Amino acid sequence: MKNIYSNIYSFNKKVLKKTVKSLKQGNIVGLPTETVYGLAGNAYSKKAVKKIFKFKNRPKTNPLIIHYFSKKNLNKDVILNDSFFKLYKRFCPGPITFVLKKNKRCKIENLATAKLNTVAIRFPKHRFTRSVLRSINFPLAMPSANLSTGLSPVSAKDVFDEFKKKLGLIVDGGKSKVGIESTVVDLTSHPKILRPGVISAKDIKNSLRINLSNKKTGVRSPGMMKKHYSPGIPIQLGKKPKNSRHAYIIFGKGYKNKDNYFNLSKKADLKEAAANLYKTMRKIKKKGYLKIFVSKIPNFGPGIAINDRLTRASK
Ligand code: TXA
Ligand code: MG
Repeated sequence: MKNIYSNIYSFNKKVLKKTVKSLKQGNIVGLPTETVYGLAGNAYSKKAVKKIFKFKNRPKTNPLIIHYFSKKNLNKDVILNDSFFKLYKRFCPGPITFVLKKNKRCKIENLATAKLNTVAIRFPKHRFTRSVLRSINFPLAMPSANLSTGLSPVSAKDVFDEFKKKLGLIVDGGKSKVGIESTVVDLTSHPKILRPGVISAKDIKNSLRINLSNKKTGVRSPGMMKKHYSPGIPIQLGKKPKNSRHAYIIFGKGYKNKDNYFNLSKKADLKEAAANLYKTMRKIKKKGYLKIFVSKIPNFGPGIAINDRLTRASK
């Protein structure tokens, strides 16, 4: 039998070389990160960045996150500040993205940042992707590896589901541990969360020892459109399903064991629930359920990020 996943490669030294070569040639590849899988290309190359937008069918107004190996590799692309240094020391490499002001000498392709005067940067933690970043002398523009408005992928097969054979290379780095996208924090003025993630506002506040801004004005995340993270079937929050053709996403103890019930975390652990969220929604869609209902998920810590994604998915 022919292997339909022939563009998925397990990670090893040979595949690292292949990946680096491909990126240097201006191609885009599917890479694992600790949050979700990404669609990576040379952030300094117009050709590569153009491909990313085209592949995802992403609006040109929605900027990409630029990924670096460490702060030593920033090449003066951005202007750093104290809040950045504190948060970098505490959380990087890890699931957090910083929006900073662009430096005049910034080499990042203008399209990648949607022509803004700010850049979102991140230092991902996955071993393979770190090896890639260490082997190249340019950063990677890397949005989640899904078609625009859809669910982010958390495994190599999820990436395959999105793009099939259109991608020459998808690297299998196992299941993404965090399972939802990084926290995006704006550091261009008073620190403010633009996209919640498993690193919570409270974690950031404790680390900076200041209160974060709640202002609706100032920098906004152009990608935080209302409809997003959609599994492609309707979702209704806070209600129970009426029949067995509807799936029920639940959290914690006290539920019956039913075929159409999908528990994000039986032990009521919000981190575990975040890690299972997209995987579960993809599974439900594949099984052919017509609609998803979701029980109440506690709204603190990673729960804030889970509820944010579910609310957008339900639009
Ligand atoms: O965990 C992650 O961040 C994943 C992995 C692959 O690294 N990437 C990811 O990228 O989620 P993407 O493109 O799906 O989401 C990027 C988000 C969008 O909401 C975008 O609007 C925002 O970051 N963003 C990017 N540049 C920005 C900027 N200069 N100012 C404000 N928001 C920005
Ligand atoms: Mg995305």
